[in-house]
Amino acid sequence: MSNSKKILITGGAGFIGSHVVRLFVKKYPEYHIFNLDALTYAGNLENLSDIENEANYTFIKGDITDETLVDELFKKYRFNSVIHLAAESHVDRSISDPLSFVKTNIIGTMVLLNSFKNLWKSDFSNKLFYHISTDEVYGSLGHTGLFKETTPYDPNSPYSASKAGSDHFVRAYGETYGIPYIISNCSNNYGQNQFPEKLIPLFINNIINNKPLPVYGDGNYTRDWLYVKDHATAIDLIFHKGKLSETYNIGGFNEWKNIDLVKLLCQQMDVKLGRKQGASEELITFVKDRPGHDLRYAIDASKINKELGWYPSVTFEEGLSKTIEWYLNNQTWLDNITSGDYESYYQRQYS
Ligand code: NAD
Ligand code: TYD
Repeated sequence: MSNSKKILITGGAGFIGSHVVRLFVKKYPEYHIFNLDALTYAGNLENLSDIENEANYTFIKGDITDETLVDELFKKYRFNSVIHLAAESHVDRSISDPLSFVKTNIIGTMVLLNSFKNLWKSDFSNKLFYHISTDEVYGSLGHTGLFKETTPYDPNSPYSASKAGSDHFVRAYGETYGIPYIISNCSNNYGQNQFPEKLIPLFINNIINNKPLPVYGDGNYTRDWLYVKDHATAIDLIFHKGKLSETYNIGGFNEWKNIDLVKLLCQQMDVKLGRKQGASEELITFVKDRPGHDLRYAIDASKINKELGWYPSVTFEEGLSKTIEWYLNNQTWLDNITSGDYESYYQRQYS
């Protein structure tokens, strides 16, 4: 292990993290991947059961806000790279419990930065702190325009404010202490293993169970959607070929109004469930809007496209179809996850 990369991936039991861990473990047998995850409600080791016994993979259960633990881990394993995904990630939860977002997303990032800096400050060569962030830090667009890497930060939710704060600290550690870092800001992900509190898996689960589909406000909010495996390949490219101290925006070239997306989802679900066309759309229910709801996110991903040659591999229709198939074929995963914390959260959020 001594000459190869020892990569700490945080939040690897979550949605995006599990796809990144799998990609790196399988594609780079010469690397060792350490997955540090606190296994909060969003972390699920079932996501990684297919690779858990690989020789180049180690899971560590732990909290990134635990300074003593994180410092010990850096000293013990001497991680030369970090891909940092661990976070509280759901906007609605950030509205009801903002402090936990500050703790994990800001303090947790600071703890990692400090341990990384302290271990390597005498020699930062061939080291990297790669921070995974969101397009939501840029705030809300009107009906036109795109987020560029140079767009000023203007976060509106406690979630996006906490992610913006963590991005600022990463950059500040680069400027102040010289740590080698890269940041990427990605649009909304969808795909297999996403916790069913986010729009697409929540609605798939509700359609399966004939429950109402709670569309916030008038549904005329726009998001750019990217298939999670395409985000993982972008992360792989940026990790290996990205320029230090730079930001990369990652997006799907794929904007949808929520209501149009939900109708497409309903149509695909009707076909796959053998229901008559229009059956699932009858479940659409307009509910009270999310406070501070951002009107539109849209990404200019031309930098990663031009500089690193990255482009999404699937169309939205294909990605959505694969996603639905996965949830239909993995009902046990859904059933396991929708018990416990999820049930009480759902009651609080939608009752
Ligand atoms: P997720 O909520 O599915 O997973 C988060 C993971 O982090 C979980 O496994 C959880 O157990 C772990 N975690 C949470 N708090 C922790 C702590 N204190 N210590 C250690 N582990 C902890 O999130 P996701 O959707 O996979 O997002 C991953 C990252 O990507 C986040 O940083 C998020 O901001 C960013 N991101 C997400 C999206 C998206 O659409 N989901 C888009 C752009 C960027
Ligand atoms: P979400 O998946 O929570 O992602 P984000 O808020 O990070 O963009 O929501 C995506 C969009 O769907 C957002 O505009 C809010 C909307 N939405 C609903 O209309 N109903 C819901 O129940 C949820 C969870 C989201």
